[in-house]
Amino acid sequence: MRCAACGTENEAGRKFCGECGESLALACPSCGTPNPPAVKFCGECGNALTAGNGQQTSNVEPDLQAPTSERRLVSVLFADLVGFTTLSEARDPEEVRELLTRYFDTCRTLIERYGGTVEKFIGDAVMAVWGTPVAREDDAERAVRAALDLTSAVSALGQEVGAPDLRARAGVLTGEAAVTVGAQGQGMVAGDLVNTASRIQSSATPGQVHVGAATKRASDAAIAYEDAGTFDLKGKAEPVPLWRAIRVLGGVRGAQKSTGLEAPFLERERELRLVKELFHVCADECRAHLVSILGVAGIGKSRLSWEFFKYIDGVATDVRWHQGRCLPYGEGVSFWALAEMVRTRCAILEGEEQASALSKLRQALGESVPDPEERKWIEPRIAHLLGLEEGPAWDRENLFSAWRLFYERLAEAMPTILVFEDMQWADPSLLDFIEYLLEWSKNHAIFVLVLARPELMDRRPSWGAGMRNATSMYLEPLGPGTMDRLLSELVPGLPDDGRAKVLERAEGVPLYAVETVRMLLDRGLLVQEGSSYRPTGDIDSLEVPETLHALIAARLDGLMAEERRLVQDAAVLGKTFTIPGLVALSGKSHEEIEILLSALVRKEVLSLQADPFSPERANMASCRIS
Ligand SMILES: Nc1ncnc2c1ncn2[C@@H]1O[C@H](COP(=O)(O)OP(=O)(O)OP(=O)(O)O)[C@@H](O)[C@H]1O
Ligand SMILES: [Mg+2]
Repeated sequence: MRCAACGTENEAGRKFCGECGESLALACPSCGTPNPPAVKFCGECGNALTAGNGQQTSNVEPDLQAPTSERRLVSVLFADLVGFTTLSEARDPEEVRELLTRYFDTCRTLIERYGGTVEKFIGDAVMAVWGTPVAREDDAERAVRAALDLTSAVSALGQEVGAPDLRARAGVLTGEAAVTVGAQGQGMVAGDLVNTASRIQSSATPGQVHVGAATKRASDAAIAYEDAGTFDLKGKAEPVPLWRAIRVLGGVRGAQKSTGLEAPFLERERELRLVKELFHVCADECRAHLVSILGVAGIGKSRLSWEFFKYIDGVATDVRWHQGRCLPYGEGVSFWALAEMVRTRCAILEGEEQASALSKLRQALGESVPDPEERKWIEPRIAHLLGLEEGPAWDRENLFSAWRLFYERLAEAMPTILVFEDMQWADPSLLDFIEYLLEWSKNHAIFVLVLARPELMDRRPSWGAGMRNATSMYLEPLGPGTMDRLLSELVPGLPDDGRAKVLERAEGVPLYAVETVRMLLDRGLLVQEGSSYRPTGDIDSLEVPETLHALIAARLDGLMAEERRLVQDAAVLGKTFTIPGLVALSGKSHEEIEILLSALVRKEVLSLQADPFSPERANMASCRIS
């Protein structure tokens, strides 16, 4: 029996921990299973444990002490640590205790974020319930989202503390159960559902989540499942069919689920976790925060933001999500992305007739700006942003402060997220506004997520610098193993040589792999089979997809004329080339070439390879066309 306080393993039958003296176990009066001292119901049979629980409920309001029992539809999550005993044997008890505390904290935080209630910790297992004390329509789905998040958080925790094999496995079961609605936050579930959930949990492979039929039915619009087979569960006459939850596909109830090709989200768990945590700090402490995600075209910026959206939609807190995109062309679109966000908030369609757009704006302001004077002041300035009113020639400060006030009022009601896509094309005045907003509204729960290609840093080298409330993340190419997995998940039967060709060309940019699969589909060389694709015949001559040509052409079009000419010269020399080679071909001086090359390297059109084995190392920085 493991001590819940210090994690030390004690021989069975001991009442107190040999290491720290903590009370160890309470035998269930019904089935005799030992339970940790702080739990109220037996983890094996759900029976009430009478002794030793007095102190837990002593601070409960007297009228809530007489609990009422009723039958309710609930979803029960059971999760357990695997590999913990081996891990704790090799470690110092203090360290084990700290790890367990972090695990318990992580479980509680995650479960509560998804609107669940932790019922109890049983040793290193956790049981949580959705549907009581408050029932929501999406309880089953949220329980599965929490289970998926929990198993991935435990793997990450293991990595962090040098225990890469640490895993949690989880089971979720939905059904009617006897619920004791007593003390608030302590609605308790007992009976068969709890026992079965615990057994479903133990049927899962470490790191995975199993669910029963009702849970799957209630959540499969948003969650991808795989048949896990049937299992003989103790106490069940018939084998029970179970499903393995694979991943979250969309917002709540599958909102905005992609209909196209979407590979599973790989390798960027850590970045996603960081974005989530920064958001929670911003929301909990009401501190505005800027997260800039930088990376070349197709590297996965929008995908990271999409994963973040699915998470935000799945958590129980209400959050206001706004998204806008910068355009690469056109005049008079400086604040396009911001206007797009306001339009969405007010449900105004692009090009909507002025009168009805203005009335929608008025209504939206009425809902979010309580002070009528302030509303009157903000309204014409937002109408100006939307191009609905000319208005007097307001100066920029005047407009900025009205727009900022609007977002502050929104954020006072609930955390507000602003996602700006393709910010490499942003007009400098939009960048100014974001900086202004983060400075002036720093005590508001405003979370700004900026997605941009590296050119943003050419346009505004100081972006995010020197700000205490800013974080930047640079997305590097995915590793070769990840790219290989990505391809195999999309096209399981792709022959090895085809796969090698795609991987070589993709160079860690997932878009390239996805686009290649798109091209094969366009040409009828793949057929869909469930959620993946199978080659119809031989895929021997694999060409670069047309859309990639377009992608590369667009990137090259964005360069300055001199830079573009240099790339053309370099291309004559081949995929890799040396600076002296380029000097000879272009007729430019070494210095001129170096200046141009460093700009191209910064834009990631070229990359530098310092070759340590070359005898000409001093001037042998060879370049590779990305
Ligand atoms: N971590 C990942 N795992 C699996 N697929 C990914 C991952 N990241 C990106 N992808 C896929 O790669 C493709 C391109 O990604 P995405 O659109 O996010 O690129 P981007 O960085 O936003 O590019 P752009 O600068 O052009 O906007 C998408 O199909 C996306 O689903
Ligand atoms: Mg994008």
